[in-house]
Amino acid sequence: MEILTNSTVGSAHGKIILMGEHSVVYGEPAIAVPFEAVGISVETTASKGEITIDSNYYQGSLDLVPSQLDNLKATIHRTLDLVEKPYQDLHLAIQSTIPAERGMGSSAAVATATVRSLVNFFNKEISQEELLDIVNEAEKIAHGNPSGIDAWTVTNNDFVYYVKEAPFEKLTFKGTAFIIVADTGQTGQTLKAVSDVASLVDHSPEIMEAVIKKLGKLAHKSKKAIKTGDVHALGRFMSRAHGHLKKLTVSNDALDLLVEKALDAGALGAKLTGGGRGGCMIALAEDYLQAHRIASQLKEARADKVWIYELGGKQ
Ligand code: MEV
Repeated sequence: MEILTNSTVGSAHGKIILMGEHSVVYGEPAIAVPFEAVGISVETTASKGEITIDSNYYQGSLDLVPSQLDNLKATIHRTLDLVEKPYQDLHLAIQSTIPAERGMGSSAAVATATVRSLVNFFNKEISQEELLDIVNEAEKIAHGNPSGIDAWTVTNNDFVYYVKEAPFEKLTFKGTAFIIVADTGQTGQTLKAVSDVASLVDHSPEIMEAVIKKLGKLAHKSKKAIKTGDVHALGRFMSRAHGHLKKLTVSNDALDLLVEKALDAGALGAKLTGGGRGGCMIALAEDYLQAHRIASQLKEARADKVWIYELGGKQ
């Protein structure tokens, strides 16, 4: 294959849902932060012939990608349609530090980085709405019924209070706090978890809708805690949210164990983050020393990877 020198890069960061995963699908509020410690970059290079992909999971023709990458295929096709270019003469190389299927928004980030890379390659500009449209379409393929929070958070740099189809609200954390993020090392199952929650809601609407409402209320109260810098209240709300997420059956033993270890190590609160059934959990600490202690405990408990994130900006 002849590779020309002409190439461009597009990138996107990960995301963490602080409060409101799953209930956000049902119109309740959620709170999310961009997680810049991890990210995805996609390099587009001119080539000859069919479009080819180079990633950790797959190398070869875009036409022959396995079904798990149908979201990537749709993203590339929709972007090329938008910039009015044919499906050919391109090579896309994907590099990621976002662990896949761990609740950190890797599918939304890969779609975002791909769109940005292709748009740059053809020297075009697209609006934020057009970008979000394509990423949300890709998320439908990956997750079935996305709320849009992952797409929103990986395409923006703001700490956000998000309600589906409503204007977003930027948040600023008053004070200092640290979020410890730990990866169970298990692949999460967002698609299955979202569809199982839908079945639970179908079968026991009164009970499950009440749980979803409680999660929404906790997200709402957390917004106030964030605005006033009340870390202790925020921690309590996080732990309560984990209890409700368990009722929705989206936690698992590995997540529960890390949540318990974080609380034993002095965390102000802890919960799963993202789709659940594996993937990551988060814990809240008042200062860096406490965060460090919790992170060490989580590593001892065999968390695959641990990050410390300063709420309000730096990591
Ligand atoms: C996944 O990161 C968050 C969920 O609430 C699904 C969604 O909002 O699309 C589980």
